[in-house]
Amino acid sequence: MLSKTMQEALNEQVRIEAESSQVYLAMASWAEIQPGIDNITAFFYRHSDEERMHMLKLIHFINDRGGFAVVPALKQPALTFPSIKHAFESLLKHEIMVSESINHLVDIALQEKDYATHNFLQWYVAEQIEEEALARTMNDKLELIGDDKGGLYLFDKDILTVSVVEEEL
Ligand code: FEO
Repeated sequence: MLSKTMQEALNEQVRIEAESSQVYLAMASWAEIQPGIDNITAFFYRHSDEERMHMLKLIHFINDRGGFAVVPALKQPALTFPSIKHAFESLLKHEIMVSESINHLVDIALQEKDYATHNFLQWYVAEQIEEEALARTMNDKLELIGDDKGGLYLFDKDILTVSVVEEEL
């Protein structure tokens, strides 16, 4: 059984994962109307789907543990970006915020001596290590590319490989 504190904290994470899905969906829609970046677009759409999966996993866990998962109201995310680099910078910042939030949840689980939730959260801890590392790699590459259109073309091809590798892990 979840404590009230744990349940509220997990529901806050439901909101954060739902908002993450919206944030990346908005990036995907914006990227889709930029010329020649089909794979970057697909990456954002897929990332948005993954965040929805993160949210659903939390919803099932809360309900399975005798709590009630609350479907949250969401604010509208940023709809446009000055550049692809800005979008990826924003993605990295967002993932760092999510990691901090997961760490906070782990703290609460330990305070509450809720070892089942602590164990459940380890999946998110591992996921955040991967997501942050991936976002950092992409930002590093975009920093190297600068304004080189040929570089961006290759980045768009490359992201397909990165995504596939990530899926196989
Ligand atoms: Fe579910 Fe990218 O954090």
